[in-house]
Amino acid sequence: MMTKKALGLMIGALLSGALIGGEAAAGQTLADFHSKMGGCASCHGTNAVTAASVPDDEHALNAQCQTCHGSYKDIRKTGTEIDPHHSHLGDINCTSCHTAHARPKLVCNDCHTFPNKMPFADAPEAAPKVSPDEAAIEAAMKAEPRESYDVVVIGAGSAGFNAAIAAKRAGASVLLLEKNSFSGGNSMLAAGGYNAVGTKQQKAKGITDTVEAYVEDTLKGGRGKNDRALVEILAKESAAGVEWLEGMGADLSEVKRSGGARVDRTHRPTGGETVGPHIVKTLRAQAEKDGVPARLNSRAVRLIVDENHTVRGVVVEGKHSGLYRVNAKAVVLAAGGYGQNKEMVAFYRPTFKGMTSSNNVTSTGDGVRMALEAGASMTDIDWIQAHPTVGKGSRILISETVRGVGAVMVNETGARFVNELTTRDRASDAILKQPGRHAWLVFDADLYAKAKMVRGYDHLGMLKKADTIEGLAKAAGMDPKVLEKTLADYNAYRAKGHDDAFGRPDMPLAVAKAPFYAVEVAPGIHHTMGGVAVTTESEVLDIQSRPMPGLYAAGEVTGGVHGFNRLGGNAVADTVVFGRRAGEHAAKYALEQK
Ligand code: FUM
Repeated sequence: MMTKKALGLMIGALLSGALIGGEAAAGQTLADFHSKMGGCASCHGTNAVTAASVPDDEHALNAQCQTCHGSYKDIRKTGTEIDPHHSHLGDINCTSCHTAHARPKLVCNDCHTFPNKMPFADAPEAAPKVSPDEAAIEAAMKAEPRESYDVVVIGAGSAGFNAAIAAKRAGASVLLLEKNSFSGGNSMLAAGGYNAVGTKQQKAKGITDTVEAYVEDTLKGGRGKNDRALVEILAKESAAGVEWLEGMGADLSEVKRSGGARVDRTHRPTGGETVGPHIVKTLRAQAEKDGVPARLNSRAVRLIVDENHTVRGVVVEGKHSGLYRVNAKAVVLAAGGYGQNKEMVAFYRPTFKGMTSSNNVTSTGDGVRMALEAGASMTDIDWIQAHPTVGKGSRILISETVRGVGAVMVNETGARFVNELTTRDRASDAILKQPGRHAWLVFDADLYAKAKMVRGYDHLGMLKKADTIEGLAKAAGMDPKVLEKTLADYNAYRAKGHDDAFGRPDMPLAVAKAPFYAVEVAPGIHHTMGGVAVTTESEVLDIQSRPMPGLYAAGEVTGGVHGFNRLGGNAVADTVVFGRRAGEHAAKYALEQK
């Protein structure tokens, strides 16, 4: 007898074939189609369904999709084409893309431009989302709480997951809120690694590093504008953070160099997996195991703070359940930065107005806004980092790792113009002074073999490739003679161990072995260094620099750790070290309240 799943897989195959062939009824939604097969119950089970009765996280619906159609693993394609069912986002809810009652949405295309056709693509568009008005928020604030917790954590990226897990392990009851339809936030896109000092990985590789060196490099990168006390904690607790993640099953065994670091201290998974998705996958699974899964599609819209600036809870907007109040003894803000909020970027840093951003669409500055409304003070709020190498015309970060492993950066004539391993602010400034305000990273077959992430860029069609340097220069519109001389000089500097032209400190690979590759890059907004002012115990400060009782913050929503310019690999460290600290301190505070 055919199992329900096998039947579902067959229906799924027929369905997608039929729909791609254009046979779906015009304007039909996925829900219309399913309801003809078995009514609302085919997706929602036998419970009476109203919009408000669908749980906001949509996990049950997702489980139903997989019962009939198979798991992600079952439906994954093995060829070379772009397969949204096999992505760095992990096995997210099917309903993130397959909207049932309106036009579906390929969430990958928030960043990419994949041509994949979606079933029911001509269904009517969903009505535009209307933000709740002030009166509705006020009413929710005054209403009876729907739930009460010791600690509510806002934002399920790395900082939020770490805070939630730490608070739960400290004995608190915890709710983790996530506005998006899947967890991960901006951490999901972290490509470089996790900076840590004194790890067993560094020791095994014979790397001599110290807490002081980490602190000095970070302060130098931040042009001395960082909060030194926060940086010292970051460095001192960095190795413990690696062990904490390893205790959950993470692999951070490869160690590489990032710009501005004097030694290799950027830890990441072996085998080419990108650090952000790896850590998020690990944290998602651990949070599930520890009983603090992210409540998806649940946006915190207002902090509830009394007249003494003491936090009492949060107003939440659930996708289906609408506005409701949650009481909390402590709240941890881990809602990320504002790199995708065009108005905030234009306001705080007018010279970056309109610049592309490598950030996730979730980086909209909600945490900063809520903290400001609640009376918090800000540190360095206008300091925004442009990453020098975002794929030109795209939102895809070309990781610093590519330069760390050996790529050379040239301008559109084919000439080098900067030490490729300088800090991001300086590299971005240098690119913006070049003709066309863009650059190319050039590398060879050895780097292609070594830096596995490059294959991902190739898969996305971002690389120029040629069997000769002359051919590569022509493909990229450079002067072949200039590029040939640039690379010959670079290879000679490498052979003698000194970069006479720009003082690049580390030249791990020559650019000598065909085929040769180039990827076009330009600066893009990558990190907002400024944010909520915090103490070393992650307490949020009010405008008179007094801790606001019960309010904590961690990760990119905060300011102070990175100063004027963040070093590559320090964001992941920040989210883990300070996420944990915020969770622990919030739990301690909450458990001390009556
Ligand atoms: O370029 C990168 O891989 C980025 C790393 C980071 O922002 O830490």
